[in-house]
Amino acid sequence: MSSRPSTTRTGAAQRVLAGRTDPRPASRVAVVGATGRIGSLTVAALERGGHEVVRVSRSLGVDVTTGTGLDSALAGVGAVIDVTNHPPADRAATVERFGLATRTLLATGERAGVRHHVLLSIAGLDRV
Ligand SMILES: NC(=O)c1ccc[n+]([C@@H]2O[C@H](COP(=O)([O-])OP(=O)(O)OC[C@H]3O[C@@H](n4cnc5c(N)ncnc54)[C@H](OP(=O)(O)O)[C@@H]3O)[C@@H](O)[C@H]2O)c1
Repeated sequence: MSSRPSTTRTGAAQRVLAGRTDPRPASRVAVVGATGRIGSLTVAALERGGHEVVRVSRSLGVDVTTGTGLDSALAGVGAVIDVTNHPPADRAATVERFGLATRTLLATGERAGVRHHVLLSIAGLDRV
């Protein structure tokens, strides 16, 4: 039996009580693009890890380019994982579409108090 004190939990509790952290755990996670190839694998991995997953995609009624349904989808969420994809287009249209989705997600997430934002990108993005 371990006699190690739970100093981490005590420290976190003290910070919450002092109003220095958001008390919500990051275990409620929104997966944006949840019905896609990467998204469905991400949802399965999170659920195996015991996280509560909010699935987001247009076919589930939420659009991250228009913002439709996004405020309610992100309510109470601690972390967003963006694994959306958009139809192939020329460079300018691709940058605009992905940029709009990210700006909308970040703005909505900020309003909702989301503390972590993860974006799956592509190899070579620094050359786009
Ligand atoms: N596949 C790979 O091996 C791979 C490897 C490295 C990186 N990536 C990157 O990972 C990302 C996902 O790739 P993927 O292959 O998983 O894509 P995918 O199978 O085409 O899935 C795209 C997901 O995004 C959702 N989506 C598209 N537009 C949306 C919108 N406006 N609002 C909300 N949801 C939207 C789709 O659902 P709805 O159509 O229902 O909206 C779907 O769930 C891409 O950025 C890709 O470049 C992929």
